Amino acid sequence: MTSYEVFVIARALHVLGVVMWIGGVAFVTTVLIPSLRRMPDADKRLELFEKLEGRFSFQAKIVTVITGASGFYMVHHLDGWARFKEPALWWMHAMVLVWVMFTLVLFVLEPLFLHRWFHERAKRDPDGTFRLVHRMHVILLTLSLIAVAAAVAGVRGLRLLP
Ligand code: HEM
Repeated sequence: MTSYEVFVIARALHVLGVVMWIGGVAFVTTVLIPSLRRMPDADKRLELFEKLEGRFSFQAKIVTVITGASGFYMVHHLDGWARFKEPALWWMHAMVLVWVMFTLVLFVLEPLFLHRWFHERAKRDPDGTFRLVHRMHVILLTLSLIAVAAAVAGVRGLRLLP
């Protein structure tokens, strides 16, 4: 297999990873959390959220690793490290920033304290905690969708800075 063919497979894996990952974040943010927030029983709400978010978190760990590995492989193939010095190619930074934020949350913050902190806070103040978690998901989803749109446009040469 030529290195170009490997590059094309890496790009396909990259896009598949983003679809599964950011698509999942979009579902959690626009459907799951708003529906849970309307549930009157706070204990049932917390239990259901932890069950569903726990399952998605496992999947998200796998697809963030695939997206990161395929992304760095593509940078290597394109000899594209110098792109990170060019503000006009900010979509490269945006992709890496989104990846670093999610990777930190999934592999470091959540296991270390975030999961326990969320559970205890949701027990104490269920509405306030779900409002806060919803706001955080809206911010992460917005940044991710900007990175997706900018990457698709940037890859095809659209200048995204004056
Ligand atoms: C470690 C993190 C990442 C690295 C190193 C990376 C790197 C890359 C590279 C090198 C390309 C191809 C650029 C080109 O052909 O000129 C690319 C394409 C792309 N990346 Fe990333 N990426 C990363 C994370 C992400 C994330 C988190 C997202 C989404 C939120 C994302 C979305 C995309 C999209 C949509 C494309 C365009 C695919 C296409 O239209 O063919 N990437 N990425």
